Formats: sequence, C-alpha cells, structure tokens
Amino acid sequence: MQVSLIILAAGQGTRMNSDLPKVLHPLGGVPLLHHAMTTGRALDPARTVVVAGHGAEAVAAAAHAFDDTAEIVLQAEQLGTGHAVAQAAPLLADAPGEAIVLYGDTPFIRAETLQAMLDARTRHAVVVLGFHARDPGRYGRLILNGDALDRITEWKDATSAERAVTLCNSGVICAETRTLLSLVASLENANAAGEYYLTDIVALARARGLSAGVVICDEDETLGINSRPQLAGAEAAFQSRARAAALEDGVTLTAPETVFFALDTVIGRDATVGPNVVFGPGVTVESGAEIRAFCHLEGCHISRGATVGPFARLRPGAELAEDVHVGNFVEIKNAILDEGVKVGHLTYLGDANIGEHTNIGAGTVTCNYDGVMKHRTVIGKRAFIGSDTMLVAPVTVGDGALTASGSVITEDVPPEAIAIARARQVVKPGLATRLFEKLRAVKAAKKKD
Ligand code: UD1
Ligand code: CA
Repeated sequence: MQVSLIILAAGQGTRMNSDLPKVLHPLGGVPLLHHAMTTGRALDPARTVVVAGHGAEAVAAAAHAFDDTAEIVLQAEQLGTGHAVAQAAPLLADAPGEAIVLYGDTPFIRAETLQAMLDARTRHAVVVLGFHARDPGRYGRLILNGDALDRITEWKDATSAERAVTLCNSGVICAETRTLLSLVASLENANAAGEYYLTDIVALARARGLSAGVVICDEDETLGINSRPQLAGAEAAFQSRARAAALEDGVTLTAPETVFFALDTVIGRDATVGPNVVFGPGVTVESGAEIRAFCHLEGCHISRGATVGPFARLRPGAELAEDVHVGNFVEIKNAILDEGVKVGHLTYLGDANIGEHTNIGAGTVTCNYDGVMKHRTVIGKRAFIGSDTMLVAPVTVGDGALTASGSVITEDVPPEAIAIARARQVVKPGLATRLFEKLRAVKAAKKKD
C-alpha cells in the first residue's frame, strides 16, 4: 500500500520566544522536525510533503537534510490545520493510497501507532489518533457515538458537556489520500477561531455517509512542543528512553544518566560507554568498541575493538577501523584511521588518511588549514610519527617511514625514510651554571639599590 505523509510545520511557535522556527529547535541532537520524519519513514512512504510557512527556507533545508526527496509546500498564511493540509493537494492530487497527517512539533508518535491507524482504515474511512488526557486543557475533544467517532470539537467551540470529555485529539489523522483532499477542500472557517480546522473533516465525512474511528495511544506519545520548558521536558524524556533502549540492546553504560544520545545514534551489542559521553548526530559505534569517559562524538564511525578516550573529540568524517586506539585529548575530523592505528595523546588529525598500524606520537598536528583552504595529509602503513610532529598539508608520509620528534614536515617523506626537520642540538658544557651565577649576581645588585 502506498503511503503519503503530510507533515505540518508552518506555525511560528510563538511561545518558544525564538527567532528559530519551532520545528528546527534541537531535540536529541537533531531538529524537532526529524523526529516526525523518522517515525514516518518506518512506513516507507512513497511521498513526504512538508508544509512550511514561518522560516520556510530553513525548514525546507532541514527537511531535505533528512530526506532529499521530501517535497515542500508553502503555506504563506497560517489559516488553520485544515488549510495547511489543503496546501498539499496540488502535489498529492493523483497520489494513490493512504495519507497520514503528522505535526512537525510532535516528536514521540511511534511507528507502531501509525501502523495501527493504517490497519484501522479497513474499518473506517477516517482514522484519528486519540489519547486519554490527564489534563485535557485546550485539546480538541473526540466525541464518540458508540465505538465510532461522531465529531471532533475544538475547545474554543465546545459546550461544557463536551469540555468534560477527556478523550482528546492528538492531531494525527489517516484517510485515503483522495478522500482526505476532497474533505479538506470542503472545509469552512465559521468557528470561534476563524480557522480551517482539519478536525472538521470528521463531521464532513459522517455527513457523506463515511465512518470515522479512533485509535488510542499513550499520552506520552502525543506530547507536543510549544514552549522551552516543554522542549526541555521532551529532551529529558527522549534521553531516558534512549538510555533504556541502549541498555536493552546490550550496551554497557556505566553511568546511564550522564550519557546523551542523538536520535540516530547506533551502538552495537557489548559496546561500553563510560560516564559523561555525548553523542551528537550521525554516530555509529560497532559491537565491542569502548568509549571511555568524557568523550564528545558526532558524525563518526567507530569499528569493533576500537577504544576512544577518555577526553576525546571525534568530529564529522572521523572513521575509525577495527582496533584503532584514540586516547586522551585527541581531536579527529574528516580523517580515516585504518586498522590498528594508535593516536594516544594530545593530537589533532584533520583531513587525513592514516594507514594501518601507524603510530601517531603525542602532540602531533596535521596543519590542514592555510587560512583559506583545507589540505590533506596522507600517512602510509606502519609509519611512526614522532611526538610533536607538525605535518604541513598537503603532505605525504610513506609506508614504514619515521618522522623525528619535533619535526615540521613540509615535504613528502618517501617510504621507509626518516625525516628530521628541526634545528640540530648544540651542547655548551658548564654554561648553565655560569648563566645562573650571572643572573643571581644581577638580582643581588638590584636588592642593594
Ligand atoms: C490542534 C487540533 C486539536 C488537537 C491539537 C493537538 C485542529 C483544529 N486542532 O490544535 O484538536 O487537540 O492540535 O496538539 O487541528 N499548523 C500549520 N498551519 C496552520 C496551523 C497549524 O502548519 O495554519 C501546524 C502547527 O505548526 C503545528 C500543528 O499544525 O505543528 C498544530 O497546530 P496548532 O495551532 O498547534 O493546533 P492546536 O490549536 O494545538
Ligand atoms: Ca499545539
């Protein structure tokens, strides 16, 4: 069955008190919008349409960063959720199959819940996701007639009897695409808010002799983000679920509450993560790898048997092959470290390739930036880079070569050669003693003055 997703993301999010569109605020290391897109992706949608309005360009860029086939429609004026869905009509007019409407600011809906809604479509033309609210507040109320859904009444328009209902509308709606578009085309805005309510399609469907039904989910799934406290609360909820999931998947977390995950973090079974580790977006850690305390990782891949940290920073494009060791105060960016490479201490490797079993001495720096452009450093297999080597890129060090400690390497080093690029040492016997005597005499003369 073909599924089209319509993700509403045009609202400003006034209560965030922010210049950033609400759906771009980060949650679990990625824009809020990516959470709804991730859930939707589990249904393998044929089409994903994002309705953008406030900050549309930035919202479109974020949507494309997640899925470059996502289609963007502009809702220039936010005239209501029904109006928002109607903006997708020109794109989806001929789309067969089902449409699911999601909100960009509602991150925790589970894929299983959407699947249950698709399944319920065999019984009803329109399926709405509802929940029993602890505090129903201003949510739309689901008014049932037996097991079927009669209508949705927005809080502003509800009678006190309707407001007493605690079964509420999450906003997620599923219907055949053709039906959904035909219903939203008939919406009117004669209501308390003067908006085109998507929720009115239920009564419209019933008037056409179509049935509507409800799938009920846990309230935690429907949590929407409207303010910074809610965003902070959602982050805490996200992190505690991610920690529990990692433990469940066989990852050792020595101090789970101090480890922070991103939405797309992947960690293999029997990997170990020490205290105070932060995973930014795009990190994969394979089985059995060890991440020691106080590491910050993003956009990197750590293979089996590798050890990282304590106090290491891996930035985007860091690729660690099996059994690589990256030690303390090491930063790696856009660099490929082949099997068994050791980078023990105090080093920066950026824009580099390091061949297998090469040892990088303490204090090594790839000088990759000339102030205008970036350049690559290529080091072969089983090379030995002496401590405090500056590798001024572009530069190549051959297989089995050695650089002397403290060298500034500006020219390529052939395989198996030794490169020494530092001033020769000069030793002056007795000079230290004579120098100190002289300095002490100067100090004593000053005191007398
Ligand atoms: C909506 C529902 C309500 C439900 C609640 C759940 C309607 C009429 N009401 O109310 O029944 O209980 O969500 O949170 O649907 N948006 C647009 N364009 C618009 C208007 C909204 O893209 O013109 C987007 C917003 O950015 C947001 C989402 O749609 O992501 C929901 O809009 P919002 O104004 O928050 O709806 P509620 O009034 O909360
Ligand atoms: Ca809302």
